[in-house]
Amino acid sequence: MHPARHFLQLKDFSREELEYLFLRTRWIKDRFKRYEAYQPLRDRTLAMVFEKSSTRTRVSFEAGMNQLGGIAINLNRGDTQLSRGEPIEDVSRVISRMVDVVMIRTFEQTIIERFAAHSRVPVINGLTNEYHPCQILADIYTFIEHRGPIRGKTVAWIGDSNNVCNTWLQAAEVFDFNVHVSTPPGYEVEPERAGLYGTDHYEEFADPLDACRGADLVTTDVWTSMGFEAENAERLKDFADWQVDGEMMAQARPQAVFMHCLPAHRGEEVATEVIDGLQSVVWDEAENRLHAQKALLEYLVCGKVES
Ligand code: CP
Ligand code: NVA
Repeated sequence: MHPARHFLQLKDFSREELEYLFLRTRWIKDRFKRYEAYQPLRDRTLAMVFEKSSTRTRVSFEAGMNQLGGIAINLNRGDTQLSRGEPIEDVSRVISRMVDVVMIRTFEQTIIERFAAHSRVPVINGLTNEYHPCQILADIYTFIEHRGPIRGKTVAWIGDSNNVCNTWLQAAEVFDFNVHVSTPPGYEVEPERAGLYGTDHYEEFADPLDACRGADLVTTDVWTSMGFEAENAERLKDFADWQVDGEMMAQARPQAVFMHCLPAHRGEEVATEVIDGLQSVVWDEAENRLHAQKALLEYLVCGKVES
């Protein structure tokens, strides 16, 4: 038996593989829009393990798996023996004998790595404290759809250096673009935690206005990620000057788009005028989670197929 291929962080896949996924995403999305069934995963099963809340990831994986002809089983932590202390390694050994692919949303990256190490089938990271590779797959696909290749472009990341930020930074290395990062003091990028090879593809700015200058894409995320709720009051104070507003967007290129992985807090990390404004592509970005993950599921279960 070949060891299973996993998608635990963005850099687990080469640029060629990710570009192949974008081609498949386009093809799968086009068929979906024409209401043409495409069911390469008939009789296949996806298990989804959620240790944190979700709307988009849950719906896109479950709907996507159904549309591909398979089924998805949703396992919330509280409903499983995980919540009663069953070791993650044992859960992995058992689930992976019964299904064809697993998606997990959990806390530390080490948890998903332990699961993957004992799994017979591919494991997909549906968000950890460190990374959110499915999100950036959809985000880069969305950028390409709206503006063409991302190579050489500038992405401004404003706010917390969290899981989504870390994954943008990995993507910058894979696709060769630049990230301008602006975080409040004390929340700076940790290159090792982000899983970076170096510091060539990002630059840190004390002033978020400077980070936005000349950007082709401005993006942000919540100030308090899941699992960090105890820090919420302190973060509200620390991040107050890091709200993406019209003034920040005015520093970016006129053609710049705004993205947010959602859920958003209008009036905190983003002003209503921006997220609901003309430069925002957040609804396309959310929809593309579905199409990009269908391409990912197809690739992990079936391997490369001809378009
Ligand atoms: N962006 C994202 O992953 O959303 P959910 O938390 O709703 O899945
Ligand atoms: N950084 C956020 C992303 C939610 C999709 C979190 O981890 O809560």
